[in-house]
Amino acid sequence: QRPILRLLSCPGTVAEDLRRDEQPSGSVETGFEDKIPRKRFSEMQNERREQAQRTVLIRCPEKISEKKFLKYLSQHGPINNHFFYESFGLYAVVEFCRKESVGSLQNGTRTPSMAMETAIPFRSRFLSLKLKNQTSEQSCIQSSDQLPPSNRKLFEITLLCRKYDQLNTLLKEFQLTEENTKLRYLTCSLIEDIAAAYFPDCVVRPFGSSVNTFGKLGCDLDMFLDLDETRNLSTHKTSGNFLTEFQVKNVPSERIATQKILSVIGECLDHFGPGCVGVQKILNARCPLVRFSHQASGFQCDLTTNNRIALTSSELLYIYGTLDSRVRALVFGIRCWARAHSLTSSIPGAWITNFSLTMMVIFFLQRRSPPILPTLDSLKTLADAEDKCIIEGNNCTFVRDLNRIKPSGNTETLELLLKEFFEYFGNFAFNKNSINIRQGREQNKPDSSPLYIQNPFETSLNISKNVSQSQLQKFVDLAQESAWVLQQKDTDRLSVSNNQPWGLAAILLPTVPNRRSFTKKKRKRSANESVRNLLESLKSNRTANFTETNEK
Ligand code: GTP
Ligand code: MG
Repeated sequence: QRPILRLLSCPGTVAEDLRRDEQPSGSVETGFEDKIPRKRFSEMQNERREQAQRTVLIRCPEKISEKKFLKYLSQHGPINNHFFYESFGLYAVVEFCRKESVGSLQNGTRTPSMAMETAIPFRSRFLSLKLKNQTSEQSCIQSSDQLPPSNRKLFEITLLCRKYDQLNTLLKEFQLTEENTKLRYLTCSLIEDIAAAYFPDCVVRPFGSSVNTFGKLGCDLDMFLDLDETRNLSTHKTSGNFLTEFQVKNVPSERIATQKILSVIGECLDHFGPGCVGVQKILNARCPLVRFSHQASGFQCDLTTNNRIALTSSELLYIYGTLDSRVRALVFGIRCWARAHSLTSSIPGAWITNFSLTMMVIFFLQRRSPPILPTLDSLKTLADAEDKCIIEGNNCTFVRDLNRIKPSGNTETLELLLKEFFEYFGNFAFNKNSINIRQGREQNKPDSSPLYIQNPFETSLNISKNVSQSQLQKFVDLAQESAWVLQQKDTDRLSVSNNQPWGLAAILLPTVPNRRSFTKKKRKRSANESVRNLLESLKSNRTANFTETNEK
């Protein structure tokens, strides 16, 4: 097992913490150390969904005794798991051992009455806990952090980290925590309760980076309203020569049905959904959606329906992300690099998306010799009858059991892979070739889009159609520059003590304005100056900064 890097707020420097936990020198990480059987995506989703259904979200008074809180709730049944977090107030996530406990708690819960306003009496699993007498409680709560570390910390971590650990440290700091994942499934489950008022058998499933192993703290929550159970529940065997069908309203197309369903659910969220604010119905988009903020969890949510292929894409990425631990570390590093240089943005536009970047990393890892990741076609060859899956005429068959995929014999280090990634894409013939993870090789571009990444399941589509020539050029320039910087740092990376950034830290530095007019030497000097200044300022306020974000 790999050592776990701890970044604690205890006395001593971050560097000391990191060095203490460093890998023994000479050990090379291959990504296949973990021999524990790995769960299928569907198993993981079902388990977490079931946990979420036994869970409640409680807004707590500012000062509360954890012991008394747990004792009070235990009246309704044993508690399996709980944690607190802060998001403009103190919240608790409480998972009971049995689902009945939730009903029992709800039965003893009242709808508030207010002097000036009127409550809509919707009984959800999002509750408020009030103190009966205003006796002030001693607060002794440890709350978990749901936000990503600041940019400054990101830089500090990668700067001070040595050996092979930069990318892994970044991953450990930014990946979704167990608590954050639980909160994501709980939020979906709360939204499912609202949608279930119309469609009792619906399921709201998280997809995208919340579940595909590439989620970063603070990423949005993509939700899929799955109505398949509602549609296909008619498999009851009845005797006699008759069968019954529901009388339904018909609309001219699947798209119109999707728009009508999302419109109604959007209204429900807006009018009845506790904590759902800023509801926007974006129904004319290529993929219609309802966007809203779930205030209590702090998640920006995108709810879609009739979007099963996206769920399948998430499953495929989950497989790639779980197969080899180098994959996630590299994807996180590249995503952070892209964000630091404004190659990606939270606003939709002509820029590269995180989804496209992830596809590029997967493709690159399929191109290594020997390959680190298998092609989608070879995952299809490993599939059995149970894995067969056709969605809207598209073949989405691939092996779902991770334990049937043979590990790669490739032992390249993350440090090398990062450099090679930039070199590979810094020199890629984007003008004539497309990226294709199904076959794991470059192919002629079928059209003139600047960047062409074939959609793995809807193979006639390009997932990066939105990317403009200038954004692609910016990516290529930065990739070339980063490859160059990493090459330079190869020779002097033992000079951490000279306060020089190296490896990932060096390429996360904001780009110097008008850098093209700088000579390479000047660029390097300017980068070193920035680091020196940053380190100076860190020395003065390190303790405060770290206590704030690391105490768990
Ligand atoms: P974040 O930036 O962390 O949110 O990454 P993400 O993977 O969740 O991306 P996003 O929220 O933009 O999209 C959610 C999911 O929708 C992705 O994981 C994909 O499965 C799918 N998706 C997003 N963009 C595209 C696209 O252009 N084409 C296709 N086919 N699927 C897409
Ligand atoms: Mg997302």
